[in-house]
Amino acid sequence: MRIGVPREIFPGEKRVATVPDVVTKLVKLGFDVVIETGAGELADLSDDAYKEAGAAIAPSAAELWSGSDLVFKVRAPTPDEVALMHEGQTLIGFLWPAQNPDLMQQLAAQKVTALSIDALPRTLSRAQKMDALTSMAGVSGYRAVVESANAFGRFFNGQITAAGKVPPAKVFIAGAGVAGLAAIGAAASLGAIVRANDTRAEVADQVVSLGGEFVKVDYEEEGSGGGGYAKVMSEGFQAAQREMYAQQAREVDIIITTALIPGKPAPKLITAEMVRSMKPGSVIVDMAAEQGGNCELTEPGKAVVKHGVTIVGYTDLASRMARQSSTLYGTNLFRLTEELCKTKDGVINVNMQDDAIRGLTVIKDGEITWPAPPLVVAPKPAPKPAAAPAAKKGHGHGEPSGPMPAGKLLIVAAVTAVLFALMGAYAPAAFLSHFTVFVLACFVGYMVVWNVKPALHTPLMSVTNAISSIIAIGALVQISPMANAASRPNTLIGILAALALVLTAINMFGGFAVTQRMLAMFRK
Ligand code: NAI
Repeated sequence: MRIGVPREIFPGEKRVATVPDVVTKLVKLGFDVVIETGAGELADLSDDAYKEAGAAIAPSAAELWSGSDLVFKVRAPTPDEVALMHEGQTLIGFLWPAQNPDLMQQLAAQKVTALSIDALPRTLSRAQKMDALTSMAGVSGYRAVVESANAFGRFFNGQITAAGKVPPAKVFIAGAGVAGLAAIGAAASLGAIVRANDTRAEVADQVVSLGGEFVKVDYEEEGSGGGGYAKVMSEGFQAAQREMYAQQAREVDIIITTALIPGKPAPKLITAEMVRSMKPGSVIVDMAAEQGGNCELTEPGKAVVKHGVTIVGYTDLASRMARQSSTLYGTNLFRLTEELCKTKDGVINVNMQDDAIRGLTVIKDGEITWPAPPLVVAPKPAPKPAAAPAAKKGHGHGEPSGPMPAGKLLIVAAVTAVLFALMGAYAPAAFLSHFTVFVLACFVGYMVVWNVKPALHTPLMSVTNAISSIIAIGALVQISPMANAASRPNTLIGILAALALVLTAINMFGGFAVTQRMLAMFRK
């Protein structure tokens, strides 16, 4: 089958639906790939790069559309593009079926199959690798911080310089979903003081783990509407939230809003009054601009200055990092293609029995199949009856190990004491000193390892491994007589010792290197 990737024609759209690295993988999967000339130009990807990766270049959109069995797009096709489609063709892209009923009718009339990547059931963990909404929101959250830094006239991090002390910028993020969390991470890594709020209390830990502080609304109400999305909150909650947001607006320098409830207009969280109360030079980036905005004064697609505050309402944040977002999007589509082509022979099968594929498929052979029936979630297993005497799990491995009954403990202690007494009476003095060191080492080792978080066990093991390579000393002791002409060296021992030294050196330096790499993963 042939996969075609046209140039995006939506004004200002710089992304492209595949990148050369992904083309190579698609070719390996058995597909022919054809790219419209100049499709990757705005994402800094040349026709030559695609050719090198194994793609053919189509000189015009008409040739591309007519010669492709499967078309990858970013934006929904225009009526002119739909007119270029033919029966039996399959289209994949952001189609937003709920917002585009006319497009659905046009595609159905062309008797095509259409997969809308935004309709992916995100709650299926297997679908995460195909989740283009998440990848695009992640890029956009990062870019929102970069845009705010661009409009803000100060450093993000605090500095003490010869010319004076600079306080760190304070950033408030409204909504800690995918985009919000990416923004928290980016702003914290630039050194700002980051605060965030969300109606779903469950995200508080994620905010903290990314270096932010979760600011609670002083009102008890759970905001989770299921499936990781929010619900519309009660009047009482909204009033309390407005009060807290007003206070944040007075204190912070930058507000990034990402609050969204799917299928609803964006909640208005930042009022004109709050904008007026912000310090001059402050910045608001309203990511929800396309859904009406979280800020009353946002103008979608524009950056405007109102009451001395720059309000950025760009709706193309992912496209502003076109190469990065094209790479992520292309990879999401590749993962989807793998699911569609399990036989790896370059032929796709739109399997409607597969929950993920069913969710995505909005038109099958000219028949509108959207919306997909709700996913049947496996019922949670009934809670087990409380285990008889509270059994405590032993450090995550093995069987539950309850505390030893007192009688048994006494017997074990008595036997150990007798063994030690016998050893003390009869064992040679040299053995006793070695044995004492051994017992102490076991005790210290146990205490050290068990007080380390399980996540750090691997670096701990590798450093221990490196240190245990003190065996090198033994090899050095064996080699040293070789250098001494007076002694009678044994060549075999010398060779073995040198070999041991080489192997030990690998173990030692390798162990330290692995430890460094592992620890680097825990550092920010
Ligand atoms: P998401 O659904 O993962 O996150 C939205 C978050 O807002 C959720 O955590 C939700 O609990 C929270 N929320 C809802 N109502 C709230 C309220 N009243 N107060 C506080 N928090 C509330 O959505 P995602 O993917 O993070 O996207 C966020 C927004 O960014 C959306 O509006 C999306 O359309 C927009 N977006 C904009 C782009 C651009 O170029 N401007 C690009 C990508 C996304």
